[in-house]
Amino acid sequence: MTQKQLDESTAYLIGKGFEQPEIGIVLGTGLGKLVDDIEEPIEAHYNHIPFFPLATVEFHSGKLLYGTFQGKKVVVMQGRFHLYEGYDLMDVTYPIRVMHQLGIKKLFISNAAGAINLDFKKGDIMLIEDHINLQGGSPLAFKNVAKFGDRFTDMAEPYDKEMRTKLTAIAQREKITLREGVYASVVGPQLETRAEYRMLKILGADAVGMSTVPEVIVANHLRLPIVAVSVLTDECDPDNLQPVNIEEIIAIAGKTEPKMVKLFKELIKEI
Ligand code: HPA
Repeated sequence: MTQKQLDESTAYLIGKGFEQPEIGIVLGTGLGKLVDDIEEPIEAHYNHIPFFPLATVEFHSGKLLYGTFQGKKVVVMQGRFHLYEGYDLMDVTYPIRVMHQLGIKKLFISNAAGAINLDFKKGDIMLIEDHINLQGGSPLAFKNVAKFGDRFTDMAEPYDKEMRTKLTAIAQREKITLREGVYASVVGPQLETRAEYRMLKILGADAVGMSTVPEVIVANHLRLPIVAVSVLTDECDPDNLQPVNIEEIIAIAGKTEPKMVKLFKELIKEI
């Protein structure tokens, strides 16, 4: 990743009309519907944006959208890049750097995750309060990282406290159950073994998924305030583990999506 590449990606998008977005939004697996509420959308397919990684997973539409959402200019990633698709940590986080260079001031992230904390149920939404990086690497481990921000990026409060407090109040007002907890990121794409679910619980994770943490690390590098939520799509009970059903995971994500959209809508209105 070079500054010149970022400049070319950004110039392409500005040329398409992506002018001064205020908020960046990353939508996770099965969570693409928020884009229906974007007014006057402009689309840029990932495969057309210079230096963007090439999109693969078929249930992701793979595009960047720009438009007005709740009166604010937003840029939305419909579908994200995962390590399990063969991308590296630089690829996965490249779009965050581009959105930052376009001018976003805040980042909203959603994902689908499994519930490790068995007090949480599938269909619940969990506000991510902290994370554990189990992906075996860092998106900041490259030679000229200091040109883009602090090399030793502080991670004492990786998820913005003020937005978390606001979102909690919104959830109460809207009568949406909002859990709060720690998200552990794994590489995937295989699901976890029973022993791994037990380990994750001992480590202090409340949810597990295959994304988000690299993006959050880079957003912290760029000093972008973040709010991130997990849609809990399955319950990871090592003593009663059912074979994974990806269709069901996507279906649960889709069913829970309206609550996630409502939370994001209200928060964007308020900030
Ligand atoms: N593990 C990892 N990623 C996931 C899971 C899970 O159980 N559920 C949804 N994404």
